[in-house]
Amino acid sequence: MRHRLDARQADITTLAVDAIVNAANSSLLGGGGVDGAIHRAAGPELVAECRLLGGCRTGDAKITGGHRLPARHVIHTVGPVWRGGEYEEAALLASCYRRCLQLARTHRLRSIAFPCISTGIFGFPAEPAARIAVDTVCRELEQEHTLERVIFCCFSADDRAIYQRLLPPG
Ligand code: AR6
Repeated sequence: MRHRLDARQADITTLAVDAIVNAANSSLLGGGGVDGAIHRAAGPELVAECRLLGGCRTGDAKITGGHRLPARHVIHTVGPVWRGGEYEEAALLASCYRRCLQLARTHRLRSIAFPCISTGIFGFPAEPAARIAVDTVCRELEQEHTLERVIFCCFSADDRAIYQRLLPPG
């Protein structure tokens, strides 16, 4: 099966996909940025469900329902805080994308949208982060997978242009 990857400029909370990914913190109890937007749009039932999860380690991911969102699920992942690049930030960011795709497979999801994990408040430089995102997703999808569609959901036109350059043609 050929997987469709595309980059789009959008508010991730508006996307009607099987799962949107949240760039959360290890408490999973909400925050600013895309995390705040997702919790606002999903309603208080989301934080109630998150409370039962016992947090999440950096590089790992956990799944909940989408509640009032158009997306059926939210996959919460915790990206690394950028500390100059010598603290395994790249490996941890790749792990976020892999763990999200593993959960998508377990739950037999067909579509997923990722924000640019770690590149806002956590300070990971946009271009290397996008490279890690595209490389990791392409590599994982070389194996058989339930996903048919992966959206890199960019908040800014600049981020979208970076992904547009990096995505394989087709
Ligand atoms: N839709 C899509 N992308 C968005 C949206 C949105 N509605 N809002 C922001 N972005 P950030 P991080 C983009 O800071 O760097 C929170 O407090 C944003 O422009 O949300 O992983 C958490 O609780 C950027 O490109 O996440 C953590 O404490 C990208 O989403 C911390 O921030 C990620 O920026 C996580 O920091």
